Parts: sequence; structure tokens; C-alpha cells
Amino acid sequence: MSAEGTTLPKFVEEAAITAHERLIAGVYRMTLTSPAVAAHALPGQFVDVSVPHGTSILRRPLGIAEVSRTEGWIRLIYRTVGRGTQALAAARPGAYVSVLGPLGRGFHTDLGHPLLVGGGMGLTPLLFFAAESARTASVLMGGRTKEELFWERIYAPYVRGLFMTTDDGSHGVKGFVTTVLPDLLAGGDYDGVAVCGPPAMMRRVAAIAASHGVSCEVSLERHMACGLGACLSCAVDTKHGRRKVCKDGPVFPAGEVYDDAS
Ligand code: FES
Repeated sequence: MSAEGTTLPKFVEEAAITAHERLIAGVYRMTLTSPAVAAHALPGQFVDVSVPHGTSILRRPLGIAEVSRTEGWIRLIYRTVGRGTQALAAARPGAYVSVLGPLGRGFHTDLGHPLLVGGGMGLTPLLFFAAESARTASVLMGGRTKEELFWERIYAPYVRGLFMTTDDGSHGVKGFVTTVLPDLLAGGDYDGVAVCGPPAMMRRVAAIAASHGVSCEVSLERHMACGLGACLSCAVDTKHGRRKVCKDGPVFPAGEVYDDAS
């Protein structure tokens, strides 16, 4: 489904935390009751979450990892990177947070066999893509070590193919996602690449996709203050001028933000 050209509804919900667990050191998975956001969210969108006991801290923008439209919950997988997310990580099931969303524009998911390429927490929005794809998507994930690829078991029920790389060779192919991407694209029937991860990785993945004639979308990460298109703190230069990552993105066609992509 595509969100392009439509006015997207937004909601503010007082959301109960129904589950909250540590996946690895510094990475948490939080499930929230948020039926309106769950009903309208699209892969690649995010929510702004209030921080409990942290009134001086702005809401935190967090990518949506999974939703259940029938059960009315959303799931977020996030890394603690500062006081706001550390305060969030301390919240226990039963507590409430305010959720604003869904925000931003997501991926085009109307593909026959998308290849999702992710590194680190970039695998959060791609998980939502995989979960919505009815096992038509494959994923290529990279991490520094085997421990960082805890994502494998989370993705497994949702994907058609699963490929992994680690920097140290402790799991999957030794190297980076860009080590195996050319062979995957040359030997597969992929009709689109969606990438989210460290900036250098995304740029390189986009260039490789372009060299194989496969369309590519990138999900950019920028510091966000308002999350609503009002403050310009997230602005990026694109081929169509300055765009706001929170409102015009976070997903953009790779060719719009990188010179060597199409
Ligand atoms: Fe304020 Fe994007 S975060 S305009």
C-alpha cells in the first residue's frame, strides 16, 4: 500500500504498556495498547512517545516494529540512547504513556519480492514491512556480532528468505550487507529494495541497487524535535529542495537523496 498523496490521520492515545522486555543490552521491546494508531499505521511510519516522569524531555520518535489491527496494539523496538529513552526503558507494564501517531510517510510495499536490507535499529521499521508482506519479502540483516542479530528469530515467521552478515563472522557471512548484496540482486527476482541503517550503509546499498536496476527506498534518521513538520530540525537536502524527514519522510526514494542512486 502507498501513503503517497494522501492526508494521513493522526491520533493521540493514552496507551497502556502491556509488555516491556529487554532483548539485548540497551535494546527493548515495548507493546502498547493503541488501537487507533494500530488501525492506521503503515510500514515505515513512527510514533512520538511521551517519556514517563520526564516532563522536561520532548517526546521520543520511535519506529513502529509491529502492529495488531485486530487486537489494537503496537510494538516498538528501540535502543536507549539518552535520558529520554532510558526513562522509557524503566517504565513497567501497567504504566501509561502518550502516543502520537502514526507519523511520517512510509515505504511503498506493493512489490512482488521486496528485499529488506537493515542494520542495527534500522531493522525496526523493516520488521513492520516484513510483517505486512505475507511472506513475500526477504531480509538481509547485518550486525557486528551474532548477539546483534537477535532479529533473526523475530523476522523468521514473516519472511521468505533470510540472509545475515556479521562483521566478525560469528553468524552468517563474515562482512557487511554490502558484501553479499550484489550476488543476491544478481541471482534473485527482487523488484525493490528498502533499506534502513547507518548512513554509509544506506548510501552504498542504494548505489548497488541502482547498478542492478532495482528501485530503492531509504528510511532516513535525523534529530527530531517537534516530529510534526513545524520546527525544521530534521530538514535534509534532496533533489527536490529541503525536505522534512518527520513529515516528507522518513522514507524517500534513494534517488531523491543520493547522487549515485536511482
Ligand atoms: Fe520538527 Fe521535523 S522534527 S520539522
